[in-house]
Amino acid sequence: MCGIVGYLGKNAAPRIYAALKKLEYRGYDSAGIALLSDGKFTVRKKVGPVAGLKIADLAGNCGVGHTRWATHGAPTEQNAHPHVYGRFAVVHNGIIENYRTLKEECLARGEVFSSETDSEVIAHMLEHSYRGDLLEAVRAVTARLVGSYALAILCSDCPETVALAREKSPLIVGRGHVGLWCASDVPALAEKGMQLYPLGDGEFAVLHGDEAAFYDRDGAPLEKKPTLCDAARDTPEKGGFLHFMRKEIAEIPSVLRRRPHALTACGGFYEALCAAEHIGITACGTAYHAGLAAKYAFERLARMPCEVSFAGEYRYYEPIVPEKTLMLAVSQSGETADTIAAARLAKERGAVVAAVVNEEKSTLAALADFVVPVGAGREIAVAATKSYAAQVLTLDSMAASLAERRGLRGYGDLLKELPDLAEETLSVGEGVRAWVAHFLSARSVYFIGRGVDYAAALEGSLKLKEISYLPSEGYPASELKHGTLALIEAHTPVVAVLTSEALAEKTMNAVHEVTARGASVFLVTTVRACAETPGLAGAVLLPQCGDVFSPAISVIPLQLLAYYVSLARGNDPDRPRNLAKSVTVE
Ligand code: AGP
Repeated sequence: MCGIVGYLGKNAAPRIYAALKKLEYRGYDSAGIALLSDGKFTVRKKVGPVAGLKIADLAGNCGVGHTRWATHGAPTEQNAHPHVYGRFAVVHNGIIENYRTLKEECLARGEVFSSETDSEVIAHMLEHSYRGDLLEAVRAVTARLVGSYALAILCSDCPETVALAREKSPLIVGRGHVGLWCASDVPALAEKGMQLYPLGDGEFAVLHGDEAAFYDRDGAPLEKKPTLCDAARDTPEKGGFLHFMRKEIAEIPSVLRRRPHALTACGGFYEALCAAEHIGITACGTAYHAGLAAKYAFERLARMPCEVSFAGEYRYYEPIVPEKTLMLAVSQSGETADTIAAARLAKERGAVVAAVVNEEKSTLAALADFVVPVGAGREIAVAATKSYAAQVLTLDSMAASLAERRGLRGYGDLLKELPDLAEETLSVGEGVRAWVAHFLSARSVYFIGRGVDYAAALEGSLKLKEISYLPSEGYPASELKHGTLALIEAHTPVVAVLTSEALAEKTMNAVHEVTARGASVFLVTTVRACAETPGLAGAVLLPQCGDVFSPAISVIPLQLLAYYVSLARGNDPDRPRNLAKSVTVE
């Protein structure tokens, strides 16, 4: 949530502007830039995305910028960062949980605030604490902050200097061919060969001229070795598609093809998996749905008990961690605050923790005992698509390996077929375009399925609601008659997922029940006879993918449906309102 950038070097404003645009996936409620030149700040802010921020007349070689996902205070110009007070301009990503107490202190000194944000208090405290040593002031202030922060700070007494601090929100320093950078994430720094220095929790940095100095929590100097930026991975383009989301859906077959199934290559992970007697999966949103899909694989294929939890809930229900638990913390970004906290807690309680991540250089990866990359490649659209398919396949591969190891059955051939089946599904899935008109003004939409299809239904529903803004729910088909059926009326769209031959009759019973009450039913199925059922409003016949690993395939038409409905409703599918790609706050 929120993207921050700092730059030291010639012509700072357009460079910061361009870098901010690459961080908009972290929030786009408002944007702002502050430049420091001749001891004075020039600040520009606007509501909405970065585009249109007036920077043409901004001259200077030192500045900071921010793209915001609002937490405290509405998305207004006043609440946009940078926040300037006295000699300080501050951009912040994170949440200061004790800001009210700190603000009271500032107000008692007679200071006047110009925003409703938690972040502005940092600029006030810096002004109060500064005695001529910038690093000392930053250390003194951050020592009093409770919560999470990545901070980039300008001080009008310190020309050509940006001070940085990090606690639980990502921040990376980059040394390019020209200039010194800092940013919340690598895409903002994606220049071939740029040297990258990620800050750890509790660390500080001071960028001055062309020098970057790093410090630990106690202020002692730190030596950091850089890694080199992989520009090809870190600067994705739309590649001829209108939106990243559509491109990322199209990439699913190649992602599945690329994904190495060799869990043995993950530094001892395979041994930890085989030694486990209990699997925990913790995650949020789409990653949680991938975990639910995998629960069926772990329990059905490998007869391994598997418990799936919402990471944000796990933290607070005093979880029991059975002995020999392997906790799989699943996260595309590896920066989701709740998933990180749940993984930490599981570790404290004795679990072995594996981070199942798309971003291998993430906070979650750094704290885990093992890292299992899902290998989806960088995902830009806020709605997760290819990363879901990659997560499902990665988790299912674990279940399949365990099943094999336990002498139950080999699933290698089935897994190998998935990329081709995904390719075929992409093409038949386009059939959902004909369904779009039925959804445009629906009051609510329902996604149903049983067994593993229920997990896919949940993900289909999440996708639709997040980018089309239509109220939508996912239910086990068996649950409808226990309440939800009351909501079905004439033309209510119901999307049913059916990949399990064994449960076909049961799911079709629910289809008939809602059809009888006037619903328009759309079926996504591998069962030809079901696809040909009279009275359906639409059907997509998937290739035979079995029902074990099917969510990686059956999700494709659901993702396409969400995409086309979003477009038809005039939304931007890549940037749904109120959301951000990485949820780095609790
Ligand atoms: C997916 O479309 C969502 N944008 C969201 O649910 C996401 O999956 C969730 O926030 C978890 O993110 P993570 O995988 O980066 O941890």
